[in-house]
Amino acid sequence: MKRSITVSIFAIVMGVALISCDTNTQKGSGTGSDTGQGMMSGGTAWGTGAFRSNGERIYFTATSERGTSITYAGGPSSSGWMMMGGQQACVSCHGPNGRGGKHNMGMTQVMDAKDIRWKVLQPEFDAEKFRLAVVKGQDPDGTQLKPDMPRWNISNEDLADLIAFLKTLP
Ligand code: HEC
Repeated sequence: MKRSITVSIFAIVMGVALISCDTNTQKGSGTGSDTGQGMMSGGTAWGTGAFRSNGERIYFTATSERGTSITYAGGPSSSGWMMMGGQQACVSCHGPNGRGGKHNMGMTQVMDAKDIRWKVLQPEFDAEKFRLAVVKGQDPDGTQLKPDMPRWNISNEDLADLIAFLKTLP
């Protein structure tokens, strides 16, 4: 039962993710603004209660059940990204399974989002290093993450929930 819910959420999200990565101009702008508006209005595209945890909800929608705001600055500056419109969430780039992947952002630009399943982030990241990466774009190796990775404004409690969710990803 639980599994079938997960699978259907997965299917819906995959649909959104595929659209997001679509470089076709017309399709991209139409569907992009639809999903964007749903998320901007504060709810989720799937209604309330569709997520098993707050961390999962944050990952998929960049909204928290605490009501705390989650915003970001930066992200890809290419036209492909701008066209998607609306609020983005981790899932937009890191995918429904957390494994990341390459996104075509335009004719020649490719954005390579990393695998952020918690087990893959180990042993490099702990909670504090994860926070620095997400909030400040600071890589544990001392360098800055590419500007394609947005800088997030998110509370420590919401970050903890997000980590708990990333830990559940196989
Ligand atoms: C617009 C696309 C995009 C979104 C949205 C996004 N990321 Fe990223 N993220 C990236 C890219 C691209 C990289 C790789 C940056 C680099 O190579 O320097 C990255 C890297 C990271 C890293 C560093 C991984 C490593 O191994 O160094 C973490 C952690 C991360 N993202 C977490 C998140 C979280 C959590 C969210 C949601 C709150 C999020 N990202 C949303 C694009 C995105």
